This record gives sequence, C-alpha cells and structure tokens, in this order.
Amino acid sequence: MSFKLSIPLVVSLLASFSAVSAQTQCNATSLCPSSAPCCSEFGFCGTGDFCLGGCNPLASNTLTSCMPEPVCQNANHTFKDTSRILTNATYFDGNATKYDWVVNSGTIINSTAGELGLTLTEDNGGTRISSTRYVHYGTITARLKTGKWGGVVTAFITMSDIKDEIDWEFPGDQVTEGQSNFFWQGVIPQKTVGGTHGNLTDTFSNYHDYTIDWQEDALTWAIDGQTVRTLKRSDTTGDDGVSRYPSTPSRVQLSIWPAGINASGQGTIEWAGGLINWDDPDYKSAGHFYALVESVSITCADSKANPSDAQSYVYGKNTSAFSPQIAVSNETTVNSGAMALRALAGAGGVWTAIGAGAFMALGALLV
Ligand SMILES: *[C@@H]1O[C@H](CO)[C@@H](O)[C@H](O)[C@H]1NC(C)=O
Ligand SMILES: *[C@@H]1O[C@H](CO)[C@@H](O)[C@H](O)[C@H]1NC(C)=O
Ligand SMILES: *[C@@H]1O[C@H](CO)[C@@H](O)[C@H](O)[C@H]1NC(C)=O
Ligand SMILES: *[C@@H]1O[C@H](CO)[C@@H](O)[C@H](O)[C@H]1NC(C)=O
Ligand SMILES: *[C@@H]1O[C@H](CO)[C@@H](O)[C@H](O)[C@H]1NC(C)=O
Ligand SMILES: *[C@@H]1O[C@H](CO)[C@@H](O)[C@H](O)[C@H]1NC(C)=O
Ligand SMILES: *[C@@H]1O[C@H](CO)[C@@H](O)[C@H](O)[C@H]1NC(C)=O
Ligand SMILES: *[C@@H]1O[C@H](CO)[C@@H](O)[C@H](O)[C@H]1NC(C)=O
Ligand SMILES: *[C@@H]1O[C@H](CO)[C@@H](O)[C@H](O)[C@H]1NC(C)=O
Repeated sequence: MSFKLSIPLVVSLLASFSAVSAQTQCNATSLCPSSAPCCSEFGFCGTGDFCLGGCNPLASNTLTSCMPEPVCQNANHTFKDTSRILTNATYFDGNATKYDWVVNSGTIINSTAGELGLTLTEDNGGTRISSTRYVHYGTITARLKTGKWGGVVTAFITMSDIKDEIDWEFPGDQVTEGQSNFFWQGVIPQKTVGGTHGNLTDTFSNYHDYTIDWQEDALTWAIDGQTVRTLKRSDTTGDDGVSRYPSTPSRVQLSIWPAGINASGQGTIEWAGGLINWDDPDYKSAGHFYALVESVSITCADSKANPSDAQSYVYGKNTSAFSPQIAVSNETTVNSGAMALRALAGAGGVWTAIGAGAFMALGALLV
C-alpha cells in the first residue's frame, strides 16, 4: 500500500471536470485519444504535465506519448536547503538538471536541523515528493524519522510509471518496525507477501537508514546496513512461468499520508493503527503531523553502462512481453510546451474556477 489519492480528492477531481469538460479516463485496455494522448498517474488523459512523471506509456495513445524519463544519476541528496525541490509538481517541465525533487501534493517544511519535513494536516491530505530522475535498478537509502501517530503512515518507496513498486512503510502506531512490500504492475504477485522487520529503537525519535537495494536479479531490503529481506527475481515466477518482478524505471518517493480516515477501507484503517486523532496534542501544538528526511542516497545499477549522452529511459516497442523492454536514449526529457508556460497563460481564471485538488489534471484544459 502506498500513498493513494483519497476518495474525496478523486471525487472532487471528477466533479471539477464534469463542470468544465468531460475528462477521459484511461487504462491499459482503454488508451488515451490522440487529442489528449498522455495517461496521467491518476488515470486521466491529457497533455502537458500529464506527459511527465507518472505518465503511463502502456495506457497512453502510443508507447511514445509520455515524455522520456530522466535517466538515473548517482547522488547523495541532503535537505539543508530546498532549492533543488520544486514545491509544486504542476510547474515541472521535465528538466531534471534544474530540480532533484518535485512536491506532488501537500507541504514541505524545513526543520531547524536542516532536515526535510513532510507534513500531514486534516486539509492537505498528506505530502508526497518524487525524484525527478528515475532509477532502473540501483541502491537507494533514505535516512528518516517516521510519524508516530495511529493512522498516519510514513513511506519511502520506488514507483514506476506502470506501477511496479517497492516499499518501505511505517504505520504510525508501530515505531519499532518497518514493513517491506512490492507490487508488479500494480498488483501483488501471487507468491509473495509483505514483510515486517523490527526491533528498532523508536523510529520517530531516532534516525535509521532504510535501504531498497534493487538489482536486476534480486531485491534486498536493509535497515542500518543489515539485510532484513531478500527476494530473487526467480522467487516471483508464477505458475504460468511469468516473472512478476519490478522491472521498469522508477521514481523515488517519500510521503506521509492519512490511511486512518473514514474514506479508507476498514483493512487499511486497521493496518495503519486506527483512525487518526486530529485532537492529538502534538497535532494541536504543531498544526500538523510530520515525518523528517535527513538524506537520500542513490547509486545507479543500470544493467549495462550507459552511453555518455544518455538522457532518458524509453519504453520499448515489444508489447508482447509481460514486462516491457526499456531502452536508454539520448532523447530530451524536457517538455518545452509544458505547464510551466501554459500555467502562466491560464493563471487566474481557469485555476480559480477549478479550485484546489484538480491541478494534476489541468493540462488538458489549457491547451
Ligand atoms: C478501463 O477504462 C474503461 C473506460 O473508462 C473502463 O470502462 C474499464 O472498466 C477500465 N478497465 C479497467 C480494467 O479498469
Ligand atoms: C555519496 O556518498 C558516498 C559515501 O560517502 C560516496 O562514496 C559517494 O561517492 C557519494 N556519491 C556521490 C554521487 O557524491
Ligand atoms: C535545464 O536546466 C538547466 C539548469 O537550469 C539549463 O541549463 C538547461 O538549459 C535546461 N535544459 C533545457 C532543455 O531546457
Ligand atoms: C500547485 O499549483 C496549482 C496551480 O496554481 C494549485 O492549484 C495547487 O493547489 C498547487 N498544489 C500544491 C500542492 O500546492
Ligand atoms: C528552507 O530554508 C532555506 C534556507 O533558509 C530556504 O531557502 C527555503 O526557502 C526554506 N524552504 C521552506 C520550504 O521553508
Ligand atoms: C531485540 O533487541 C534486543 C537488544 O539487542 C535483544 O535482546 C532482543 O532479543 C531482540 N529481539 C528480537 C525479537 O529480535
Ligand atoms: C468516521 O466514522 C466513525 C465511525 O463510523 C464516526 O464516528 C466518525 O464521526 C466519522 N468521522 C468523520 C469525520 O466522518
Ligand atoms: C519480446 O518479449 C518477449 C518476452 O520477453 C521475448 O520473448 C521476445 O524475444 C521479445 N521480442 C523482441 C522482438 O524483442
Ligand atoms: C542520439 O543517438 C542517435 C543514435 O541512437 C544518434 O544518431 C544521434 O546523433 C544522437 N543525438 C545526439 C543529439 O547526440
């Protein structure tokens, strides 16, 4: 389970659109039309920022409708200043040289010690940031402190545009453990389940290093440098002989999200530690719940050395494969006609008419 759009937000998204124009939904069996070719991470067709991070090539008009994905680059990210974070992903143009992270939703804050704070309020629905670059195998370590409140979930995951996903998750009422999980194209493969790994000193008060070591043939989760779980690609082969192992380029995402709300399923609420208590004294005094991120390090492990002009990953044409083929290309990732420009033109009228919550899907309206 990872940061999901809350039901109220989806409803408000749909409501906003029916008022303005019909918004086409998309999935792998119902592709976007050429007039709005890109299928966003939320499953709506559009242009502009719909074609950037999260754009699903397999549900878009053609395999090349989405912009190429910025290629992996080794990095040690710290957050003493936030100039490398674009605080509103709507304005991203795909230029990963300019920004390392975008804020997809919610609000980031600086802690006094220079860590990045991710906030959750009753109104903001949680905060999620995504790396602008993708990892196509690599070792990612996040040093973080989790939330400690029932119903509040902290997460550090990798997520591909076709929803291959690798998780570290921290339900707020369990501050001595972390949970590992993974998904293949949005589903939990039949042969595996999530894991719980623990006996940690309080994860709210203490920093720990959580690692996702994602190699082509094996996936390892580690805490403070100690391996706690290993999954081989071959472990994910189903009875049909198909391996359901995360295999597509993925963004690194960090989030805090409200699992313990009435809009969630009962199982989710229980998993997260119950309904969130918005009267919690911590919430009352700070005005938000939060998680802190001190650093994120990324060491790329592409299956072969990339050429020096490598800029991006593109999905291959082999649609008969269960996991699409990925190529490294020198194609630009920058969407020169993007939101950044059109948003200026559309500022005021359209934004205000549509209201908060609908921004992710606005591209189509501003063409
Ligand atoms: C795909 O989208 C179409 C059109 O919105 C819808 O009718 C269909 O049920 C969807 N399929 C899946 C598997 O979600
Ligand atoms: C990140 O930090 C590690 C450990 O200090 C170092 O070995 C590595 O070279 C650094 N990577 C980059 C890209 O700076
Ligand atoms: C991307 O951003 C960098 C740094 O701001 C800039 O030098 C470069 O020209 C931009 N690239 C494109 C294609 O806009
Ligand atoms: C991003 O900008 C859009 C347009 O100004 C706005 O509607 C939206 O609320 C902003 N999102 C965040 C997370 O601040
Ligand atoms: C964090 O602090 C830096 C340095 O003081 C400042 O430039 C930046 O705007 C702050 N960011 C936020 C989100 O408050
Ligand atoms: C947890 O750690 C403590 C201290 O290192 C140890 O005594 C205890 O056996 C550990 N418990 C489990 C379940 O691993
Ligand atoms: C959530 O559900 C509980 C139990 O049904 C109810 O007591 C509570 O009022 C609901 N909260 C909201 C905000 O709707
Ligand atoms: C397409 O993918 C399938 C399954 O991975 C593979 O057997 C086949 O050789 C691939 N075809 C091409 C043309 O690459
Ligand atoms: C991109 O790569 C192709 C070959 O794959 C090459 O022909 C072309 O010159 C390259 N373009 C640039 C701008 O390097």
